Amino acid sequence: MTTSAAPPAELFERYRDDVDAALRAVFDGLDSPLATMARYQLGWVDADGNPVQANRGKALRPTLCLLTCEALGGDVEAALPAAAGVELLHNFSLVHDDVMDNDRLRRHRPTVWAVWGQAKAIDAGDFMHVLATLSVLRAGTPDDASAARDAVEVLTVGCRRMTEGQYLDMAYEDEDAVTVDDYLRMIDLKTAALIGTSMELGAVFAGNDPAVRAAVRDAGRALGAAFQIRDDFLGIWGDPDATGKSVESDIQKRKKTLPIVHAMTEGAPADRDRLQAALANLDVPPDTAEIVALLERSGSRAYAESLAEEYHAQTRALLSDVPLSAWGGEALGALAAFTARRTV
Ligand code: IPE
Ligand code: IPE
Ligand code: MG
Ligand code: MG
Repeated sequence: MTTSAAPPAELFERYRDDVDAALRAVFDGLDSPLATMARYQLGWVDADGNPVQANRGKALRPTLCLLTCEALGGDVEAALPAAAGVELLHNFSLVHDDVMDNDRLRRHRPTVWAVWGQAKAIDAGDFMHVLATLSVLRAGTPDDASAARDAVEVLTVGCRRMTEGQYLDMAYEDEDAVTVDDYLRMIDLKTAALIGTSMELGAVFAGNDPAVRAAVRDAGRALGAAFQIRDDFLGIWGDPDATGKSVESDIQKRKKTLPIVHAMTEGAPADRDRLQAALANLDVPPDTAEIVALLERSGSRAYAESLAEEYHAQTRALLSDVPLSAWGGEALGALAAFTARRTV
């Protein structure tokens, strides 16, 4: 198995400036404190509102949206506000997710709630959610409003599914009988749905054919599953200097990440009992080092890597049924490989 994890930089850079311009257009004329918080989340300003060049995230979702559009021979310019919209929606979800997960670090900086408090962070997230919809409404061409309408519906359905998944993610913190199947249903909703949405949005502005939309959405969902499985891996074995996120948080929060769920069902009986007891005892914080050693022993690290590869292969198989340009198919395949093996 190749272990190449380098981001395909030319693909991530391909639309970066255009997406940035479309994002900034959404903020034209907005100068409320909420706009400052949103700009902070996007990496444009510091907490006082002074311009900075901070980490802006990978922009995976708008890249997938526009790459899908271009690979299908679509109108990339018409799709740009939709790509910006899905990135705004993603950022809204991160602002709320960091409140829900009680996480203080994101993209190497204090999270919005760590700076402004939880109540205001919830409002800032809502603000970004609204801006996301407004941006998508600007997509399309003047003579065809129907694509923008369809795009708003696609985004909204994706958001509904993401919200359902976030609920399950939280509910599973307090459940100990979570299976791998439960986990896969949960990540399909919380993460893969919006990644499928990103690719479907690209198809809306490339002919808007229902069968093509469904095909790229399904490929995006497989890619999104690999993405979240890798995110769980990095949440335990990643380098915080690379990810900009904590490596303790998931275990301390008793998250039912894939390695944990795997060890709870497939580990040696004694290890399953130890893990069960550690996660059930709310009076004592879980011993991270002990749990990581247990996960390694149980083969959960290798299992997570192999399942990410399986979803990577599934993504490629699903993409091969889509009428993509040769270049576009290769580019999306490269993004799928990156997703499953990334270190950032
Ligand atoms: C983080 O997403 C949240 C998950 C769905 C796992 P990304 O890793 O795409 O976040 P940024 O935008 O690059 O920071
Ligand atoms: C990812 O949540 C899903 C959403 C943000 C909707 P996680 O909690 O797994 O992701 P990180 O690790 O905080 O980025
Ligand atoms: Mg989180
Ligand atoms: Mg979360």
